[in-house]
Parts: sequence; C-alpha cells; structure tokens
Amino acid sequence: HSPSAAILAAAALIAAGAAQAAETPRQTQDSGAPVGDNQNSKTAGEWGGVMLEDFHLIEKLARFDRERIPERVVHARGTGAEGEFVSNGELDRFTKAALFKAGVKTPVFVRFSKVIHPNGSPEFLRDPHGFATKFYSTEGNWDLVGNNLPVFFIRDAMKFPDMVHSLKPSPVTNKQDPTRFFDFFSHQPESTHMITQLYTDLGTPQSYRTMDGNGVHALKLVDEDGKVVFVKFHWKSQQGIRNYTPEQAEKAGFNYLTDDLYATIGKGQAAKWDLYAKILKPEDVAKLSYNPFDATKDWYDMPEIKVGTMTLNKVPENFFQSTEMSAFSPGVMVPGIEPSPDRLLQGRLFSYADTQRHRLGPNYQQLAVNAPRSPVANGAQDGAMNTVPRVGDVNYQPSRRRDAGAYADTAAYKLSPYEVSTTIQQKAIGKQEPFIQAGLFWNRLPEDQKAALIRNLSADLNGVTVPEIKEIMVSHFYAADPDYGTRLATATKLDLAAVKARAAKALEAVKLAAN
Ligand code: HEM
Repeated sequence: HSPSAAILAAAALIAAGAAQAAETPRQTQDSGAPVGDNQNSKTAGEWGGVMLEDFHLIEKLARFDRERIPERVVHARGTGAEGEFVSNGELDRFTKAALFKAGVKTPVFVRFSKVIHPNGSPEFLRDPHGFATKFYSTEGNWDLVGNNLPVFFIRDAMKFPDMVHSLKPSPVTNKQDPTRFFDFFSHQPESTHMITQLYTDLGTPQSYRTMDGNGVHALKLVDEDGKVVFVKFHWKSQQGIRNYTPEQAEKAGFNYLTDDLYATIGKGQAAKWDLYAKILKPEDVAKLSYNPFDATKDWYDMPEIKVGTMTLNKVPENFFQSTEMSAFSPGVMVPGIEPSPDRLLQGRLFSYADTQRHRLGPNYQQLAVNAPRSPVANGAQDGAMNTVPRVGDVNYQPSRRRDAGAYADTAAYKLSPYEVSTTIQQKAIGKQEPFIQAGLFWNRLPEDQKAALIRNLSADLNGVTVPEIKEIMVSHFYAADPDYGTRLATATKLDLAAVKARAAKALEAVKLAAN
C-alpha cells in the first residue's frame, strides 16, 4: 500500500516546519536561554494544575504585567517624528548657542500632542496641540517645548494644577464637564485670549503638519560678550495652517493626526517648518503696554526674523521607545539660551524633570531618545536602571587626575549675571490687562472663523449648569470686544444687559488693578 494523501501532506508540513526552524532565529528567554515550547504551559498531566516551576511562563506573565508606565499627566496623547534643523545664521549675532551658527545641521526629535485627553482618546477632540522639539546639539540638548497657540491660559505656575484638574474628568463622574473648567476660568480673566483662540478651528487642526508651533514664553539669549536680549520662538509650517471644523475632525477619525504622520512622513514625504524669532531688547521691556513675560500675551506686531528650517522625514522605529519614553523639558537648555522671569516658565523649569523622574526613573536622560549626542561628563551616578557604562575613577570635582577621568568647568559657559534689588513678595504682576489682545485677535479673524468661534464656544458654554459662571464667562468676551460678546450672548441665550453690567465691572477691576 502507498501512504495515504493525508499522511503525505502531514509529512510535507513537518518538513516545511523544520526548514523554517533552521532559518528563523530561535526564540530565547530574556536571560538568553533558547525556548523549547512557547505554546504550552507545563502542567501536571492532562488534568492537573500549571507548575510554578515553569519559569518561562511566570517570567512572560510578570514581564507583561509591568508593560505600562504612567502616562504623561498632561499631553498623554501624542506622536513623534525625526529629522534635522538647519540654521541660517541669523540668530548667531544674538546668541553663542552653537546650533544657531550659520549652516549648522542639528538632528531633532519632535513630539506632537494633544493636551487634556488621555492616551488612547480620540484625536478629533478640541484641545491646544503640543509641539515639542529636542535639538541634539554639539553642546548638549535644547528642548523647545511649545504649543500650536502663541499664548497660554494662565500666567503663574501656581494655577497650573488647579487649571488641569478643572479640565480633566470630574473626580466624581469621571467625565469632562464645562461647568467645572468654566468655573475655574471665570476667575481667570487672563484666559480670555487663549480660550478665544482655542475655540476657533485652531483647536482642531487638519494635521500636525498643518499647524504652527510657538514657544509661548520669552527666553533670554546671551551672546559671546555676555550681551542679553529676550526672544520668542515660532515654528511656521511650510504646509500652511489648515484646520477642520469639529464635524470634519470627527469624520477624519479616532486616530487621524497620528495616521496622517505615518502616511506622509512615514512614507518618505518630508514636512517642513521655518523657525522665526522675535527679539526684544532689555531696554524696551518697560516701553510695552503689557508685561512681555506674561505668557497670556502675544508680542503682537513685533517683526520676526527667520533663523532656520526644520525637516521631519522619518517616524520612529518603535513608538514606545521613542515617542512614549521621550522627555522634553523647558529647563533643558544650552549655553546661549537661558530662562526669562516669566512666572509660568519658572514653574515649568521644575515640573517637567520632576514628573519625568516619576514617569521614567532618575536615569531618564540615558534613554536613547533623550540622551545627548555630545559627550556627558559629570559625577552623577547609579540609581535605578542605570545603563550607560561609567568610565574612570573620578566621580567628584574638582580633580587633578586627568588620566583617571577628571572633568572641569568651562568659564565661557558661565550663566549670565543679572541684577535684582527688590523685596521678596507674593503679588500679581503689573500691567495685567486681560482683554485687549483677545479683542485684537477677534477683530483680525475672518468672518467664517468668527462664526466658527461663536458656534464652538457657545456649544460648550451651553453645557454649563451654573448660570452665574456662564454669564461671567460671556462678560469677559464682551469686555474683549462688544460685538464678540453680543454674538455670544445671543448664542447662549443670556440677557445682554446683565452681560454688559458684568463686563463693565470686569473692566473697572482692570482699571483699579492698573492704578
Ligand atoms: C507636557 C507641566 C505649561 C507644553 C507637560 C508635562 C507636565 C507639564 C508635567 C508632562 C511631561 C512629561 O511627562 O514628560 C506644565 C506646567 C505648566 C505647563 C506645570 C505651567 C506652569 C505649558 C505651556 C506649554 C506646554 C505654557 C506650551 C508653551 C507642553 C508640551 C508637553 C507638555 C508640548 C508635552 C511634551 C511631550 O510631547 O512629551 N507639561 N506645563 N506646557 N507641556 Fe506643559
């Protein structure tokens, strides 16, 4: 008898399996030992329990159980891309930063993000959008951690946890609730400007590629001679600014912003942004009608100079290791770039590295995506998950033992001095004027965006269940511009006379604060 067809087919399958086993690299445990069977747990016969001695199974489950790290406390939903920044040399006369010398090419990693909604939330929800850039310069990393909008809701870091609590889901219902965040914002008239921008279609960009980025804060630039100017940075998209209506965004889908990057940059279609800088001389600070270190203010109508161009042309090989484990911080600066007295920025200088030590561990700067591409030499050592080999005996400073790995200060990189002679205090800034720039922004909007703003903003205001909160909010928009406030009052069915009376009170308070 010849073998049956079934037996022949089985033999062919076994032969194919053996051939595959010869070519495919063998599976190992994390310890490196080859794995014999990754399909079946080791059991006590057919009917007995699973053996605790099945180390491979226990390790596999335990390792899996620990896959999640805390998501970012804000900006949890995001996506990254890699590329290069080329400086045109225009900023060189203001800063000694090596990355701004003419023609210098600096590798970059960018993470775009949404602010409030958690990792895994739909990307079509209205939000400011994060635009964080890590420059791997020859003199260490510089992180420019900005948003698509040029201003922020608040001006003092003291209010940031309160603001985020109000915007995040309720601790009772676990649902985002406009009554909660407008309750908070009704006490912060300085948020009028950013709320106005956010509720235009800028809150729902068509793509991360079609939005601008803004550093928001003033930073300090220091040149080779120690001369100081203040600067604000702005990424201008070469793709142009293009946004969706809320309906279009929802139709674009749950993952549309991330999908777009992988479908374009991920397929070799580069995206570009020009970097612009606005320069403010220290002697001109007092001449402005507003405080230039107030993050709720734009440096409207100040000329900007183009200082370089960024090209993003690659998406990371691995989402977790690059995008999720990336850590940006406004405190990560290079010689020639220093903080300004902006009170919001000053709080951020602490907050980011602090959360990253919690989220990623004390050695987060050793992770590949965060590690500088220039040498690191200092006495910092050890700690959980320390992976970079430490070389040399000298883990203290100063030392004369050059052959044992001594490292020294470089006087040219000393931080710039500045004079302060004042009283320590707890007091709001002067020149608070919370409404003028919101009115300016409203008046420059084309009619279709005015209409979009009224529609988008009134939809959320109409979800507010406490009438007083709604009325105060609309009075702030009225104080910014009567036409804006009147249209909103109609769309929210409020009594215009009551809104006007509250707006007059808010404007009176501004006048009193100014005197
Ligand atoms: C992320 C705090 C204001 C832009 C974060 C994170 C914290 C934080 C704790 C998470 C960081 C991480 O887990 O790696 C604060 C505080 C602020 C503030 C305390 C005010 C005092 C701002 C402002 C901007 C901004 C004004 C824009 C100019 C961003 C961006 C990210 C972020 C883009 C995400 C970075 C990434 O992609 O990893 N912020 N923030 N934040 N913040 Fe802020």
